[in-house]
Amino acid sequence: MKVFVTGGLGYIGSHTVVSLIEAGHDVVIADALYNSSESVLQRLEKLTGKSIPFYRIDITDHDSLSGIFDDHSIDAVIHFAAYKAVGESQVKPLMYYRNNLFGMITLLEVMKEKGVHRLVFSSSATVYGDLTESPIPETAPLKAANVYGKTKLMCEDIIRDYAATDSEASFAILRYFNPVGAHESGIIGELPNGIPNNLMPYITQVANGIRDHLTVFGNDYDTPDGTGVRDYIHVVDLADGHTAVLKKLEKENGVFTYNLGCGRGYSVLEVINAFERQNGIEIRYEIGPRRSGDIATCFSDPSKAERELGWKAERNIDDMCRDSWRWQQYASEHNL
Ligand code: UD1
Repeated sequence: MKVFVTGGLGYIGSHTVVSLIEAGHDVVIADALYNSSESVLQRLEKLTGKSIPFYRIDITDHDSLSGIFDDHSIDAVIHFAAYKAVGESQVKPLMYYRNNLFGMITLLEVMKEKGVHRLVFSSSATVYGDLTESPIPETAPLKAANVYGKTKLMCEDIIRDYAATDSEASFAILRYFNPVGAHESGIIGELPNGIPNNLMPYITQVANGIRDHLTVFGNDYDTPDGTGVRDYIHVVDLADGHTAVLKKLEKENGVFTYNLGCGRGYSVLEVINAFERQNGIEIRYEIGPRRSGDIATCFSDPSKAERELGWKAERNIDDMCRDSWRWQQYASEHNL
C-alpha cells in the first residue's frame, strides 16, 4: 500500500516509517518540523535505502494536504502530527486545540474529498485519565485530565462520529502506553525539546552528563517500592503495531481500538536499575515530591491486539534501556 504518514519525522512516526518500508509499503511523509528536523529524513533514507517523498506542511493547511493526495495515490493514512507535551498544553490550550483538533478535522475532510477510507490514529493511554485499576482494557471508562489528553479523546470522538457516516471507513485508534527506546541502529530516536518531561530521556541525559541527576517524583505511592509503575514499550514494537493494524484495515471496515503496551509495569526504580545494569552507568537520583497529575500504577491489557492483530511486544526493558542509551550517544555525538 501507499501510506501517507503525518508527523512521519517525529519519534513514533519515524520508527513507523521504517517498519512500513520493511513490510514492503511505500511511504509519503508530511511534517511541520515543529518537534523534528529534516535530518531525520536523511537518516530514514539511509536506514531504509529508499528515497521517501517529504512535504513540509502544516496539518491544518487544507490546500497543501489536498495537493499531496493529488500527487500520490494514497491507500491509507497514519496520523501522528500533533502537539504532545502535557504541561505545555495546559499553558497554551488554544494552540493545542487548534493544531490537534483542526488538524484531525482537516485530514478527514481531505480523505473524504479524495475517497480515502483507511486511517490509523495515534492516541494515548492518557485517555484512561486517572483510572486506578490496571491492567486497563480498551473498554475501560475514558476521561482526560489535561488539555493534551482532551485533544486525544476528542479526536477519538471525531473519528467515531465521522466513521458512522462512511460505510467504507476502516479506522484504527491505537492507544500507546509509555514508548521508550530507539531503533537498534541508534540513528533515529526521541529528541525532547528542552528539559525532558518523560523518564527515559531524562535518564539518558543524566547518563551522559547533560543533567546532574534525576528527581524521582515520589516514593510513597501504593506500589511495591513506592515509585510510580508504568507500562514501557519499545518504540520499534509500537511501530510494528501500526504495520500490523494496517493488515486488518486492508480487509475489514469499522472502527477498531487497541492498546499498544507490554501488559506489565515497571517502577521508576526498576527502570533506573535496569538502565544501570544494562549499560554499566550509574544514574544519580534524588527522591522528590510527587508530580501533580501522576498516578501510582498504569499498565495495559494488550490481549485484544494479540488476539485480533497477531501483534505483541517482543522487546524487554533491557532492550529499551540499551537502545535508548545508544541513541542518546549518537544524538550527542552529532549535536542533535
Ligand atoms: C506522560 C504523560 C502522558 C503521556 C506520556 C507519553 C504526564 C503527567 N503524563 O506519562 O500524558 O501520554 O507521558 O509518554 O506528563 N518520573 C520521574 N522523574 C522524571 C520523569 C518521570 O520520577 O523526571 C516518573 C513519573 O512520576 C512516572 C514515570 O516516571 O511515574 C513515567 O513518567 P513519564 O515518562 O513522564 O510518563 P507518564 O507520566 O506515564
